[in-house]
Amino acid sequence: MAGVFTKEQMMEMDPLFLRMHLRERVHHTVEHQLYSAIYGDRKLGPVFGNIAREILEVWEARGLPKDLPDIKWIYALMDLAERAKKGEKVEVPGGYLPSPLSESEMKAWQKLLFGRRSYRHWDSRPVPSWMVEKIIEAGMWAGSGCNLEIWRFIVMEDPAVLKEFANTEFEIERVKIVVCMDVRGYRDVTYPPPEKNKLLDVGAALQNMALMAHALGLGGCWSTFTPQQIEGIHKRFDLPDYVEVVTYLSLGWAAEKVMPPARMSYKDAILAWLGKKTE
Ligand SMILES: Cc1cc2nc3c(=O)[nH]c(=O)nc-3n(C[C@H](O)[C@H](O)[C@H](O)COP(=O)(O)O)c2cc1C
Repeated sequence: MAGVFTKEQMMEMDPLFLRMHLRERVHHTVEHQLYSAIYGDRKLGPVFGNIAREILEVWEARGLPKDLPDIKWIYALMDLAERAKKGEKVEVPGGYLPSPLSESEMKAWQKLLFGRRSYRHWDSRPVPSWMVEKIIEAGMWAGSGCNLEIWRFIVMEDPAVLKEFANTEFEIERVKIVVCMDVRGYRDVTYPPPEKNKLLDVGAALQNMALMAHALGLGGCWSTFTPQQIEGIHKRFDLPDYVEVVTYLSLGWAAEKVMPPARMSYKDAILAWLGKKTE
């Protein structure tokens, strides 16, 4: 997305797209270089940070909000970058190194990871909205290619709508969270990121969502729409052309017990392992 938009274009751009562009530019022109300077021997040149600063200036000139989580993070990162550029020895605020989970934490994690199943029958109890919100938030903590955060969501709870977009293979769920992608960061830029990243982002988000649903005691099933349903969703929700409907998570309180479909051995799935094994 580098250098593609003029100031004038950015002044007119839809704020969500501008925000996406800003995150990407900060990711590629500030974040990478900054950590390489802090932890490696990279020198931060005189133009370091300029691209991101120009976009932030547009953001400010347009009076767009500064108290959004990603924008606040960008300001904090830019502040750190400014100080590092001046040669100051900086501490990364809130930075942490990974450390192994304790035994009890690992038990909880394994319960979550290995206990998640696909459920396709639900009882009549509704799913509280706060749970739906928590599940979407969990989805958005997945990694996203170039930090674009292309995911967009539609929540369906109305029984008639759920029926219209049902998977005929299973019962109608209490809630359906539809995951879409805003493809402007891929479609409307001169140097798009690798095409596959879009779907990988959505897949990563979906897995996070399914795990959060499981942690909350809900039963869910991940599924895909038919092309006709996708067209129908576009029409019903009047989606713009840059939004693509990808997949969904059906949710409710599970009313079935399922036998975990055992996985084949990981040994059968590894195609190659070059190098010496380490203890
Ligand atoms: C991309 C994707 C699409 C899926 N589509 C369907 C579907 O259309 N219908 C369905 O009943 N289950 C669907 N599932 C659920 C899988 O059948 C299920 O994950 C798999 O059998 C393993 O079972 P588990 O989720 O309980 O581990 C889908 C899962 C994924 C990841």
